[in-house]
Amino acid sequence: MSETLTIKDNRTGKQYDLDISHGIIRAIDLRQIKNNPDDFGLMAYDPGFDNTASCKSAITELDGARGILRYRGYPIEQLAEKSTFLEVAYLLVHGELPTKPQLTSWVHNVMYHTQLHEKTKKFMEGFHYDAHPMGMLVSTVGALSTFYPDARNVNDFETRMLQVYRLIGKIATIASYTYRNGMGFPYVYPDATLSYTGNFLNMMYRLSEPRYQPDPVLEHALDVLFILHADHEQNCSTNAMRSISSSMADPYVSVAGAAAALSGPLHGGANEAVLRMLNEIGSVKHVPDYIKRVKAGEMRLMGFGHRVYKNYDPRAKIIKQTAYQVFEVTGKNPLIDVALELERIALEDGYFVDRKLYPNVDFYSGLIYEAMEFPTSIFTVLFAIPRTAGWVAQWMEQMVDGEQRIARPRQEYVGSRQRDFVPLEERSS
Ligand code: CMC
Repeated sequence: MSETLTIKDNRTGKQYDLDISHGIIRAIDLRQIKNNPDDFGLMAYDPGFDNTASCKSAITELDGARGILRYRGYPIEQLAEKSTFLEVAYLLVHGELPTKPQLTSWVHNVMYHTQLHEKTKKFMEGFHYDAHPMGMLVSTVGALSTFYPDARNVNDFETRMLQVYRLIGKIATIASYTYRNGMGFPYVYPDATLSYTGNFLNMMYRLSEPRYQPDPVLEHALDVLFILHADHEQNCSTNAMRSISSSMADPYVSVAGAAAALSGPLHGGANEAVLRMLNEIGSVKHVPDYIKRVKAGEMRLMGFGHRVYKNYDPRAKIIKQTAYQVFEVTGKNPLIDVALELERIALEDGYFVDRKLYPNVDFYSGLIYEAMEFPTSIFTVLFAIPRTAGWVAQWMEQMVDGEQRIARPRQEYVGSRQRDFVPLEERSS
């Protein structure tokens, strides 16, 4: 069987054979299909990249129909159960699980780079007390570009690796300072003897105690959440990361752009929106009414639906289990009953069933974060920390992909054709 696609152009009667590779045709092959010799050639129109592969990647495999998510071939369920966030970050960046010495050296390098330049702290002090943490995170990561001008040498592997350590290391420190800034608390220096998540909790919550000891259950739960959020192939923010760095921009401004994309409520901002929604619903008895309003098109059910998963989101399943482990330490978050009832009704309702809308990663994560006393406004920042590992892994892959060029989509121009300028005094209202 030939791996080709035959297209007949009914405008001209001509036939074209396009190669198919792994179920994909190359959009540029459409360009040869012309109505007349002066014609530009056919293009594919795909707003939102619904059916367009923008790269080849060996990092994350996602099968939305079967609810499968794997990093470098390893099922997310196994990684969540048996691995740690920093080990997973190594896997994403390097492609293989580390040996013991490789892991020791990786952890050392990342933790060594958790310190921020003192001037970064000063920079952050300039933000108003009620600045949104995502705004602070985006600006501060972007500002790192000014502290590390060497990062512009993006074509050098060693230089790129150094920025990988710095970004994964410093993002957690910046994240915690966005919280401390709002609270008016002094910034806590990183403690490299703790785990990545243990240190993050230390930088968030340490007050007057000489040494902060994270609760092991909460530290582990956060590690699981970080593993689940670490990468998700070509989503909106990863696409932004790749698009920005395709111009050879340095990784700090690229991560800032990716984090900006993450902040929207349809993407990473959904975890914050879910909590606000659950609080607005308030109690189980108000759920049916809320579902009615969603179905009437008044609003979306936040934490539901996914562009790719049309069966279930495997991350949501693990997060739901993790929530109960956390509640054993923190006490039950009363909003879990509202969430469970929303899920129960939605999964039985034709509106959601027909549209294949299931709980996504953001539906239960906010309940855990709230139980761990993270303020709602910082939830998306908690997504950005682990996703930084995914962004830099995708960047490292992109930088050695010979097929990648500057991202430059086409458009269909639908505006006015050429017309002559009209002086101001001659224009009618
Ligand atoms: N609540 C109610 N209706 C929905 C929802 C929802 N959450 N999501 C989609 N729909 C409806 C939508 O109105 C449309 O209906 P119709 O065909 O009658 O017009 C249909 O389902 C298809 O929606 P779509 O907007 O074409 O789907 P999409 O693939 O473009 O959007 C999505 C995916 C995640 C943006 C969307 O499902 C959504 O807005 N969900 C709520 C926000 C959310 O939870 N986002 C987190 C996503 S997972 C983590 C991440 O990516 O960061």
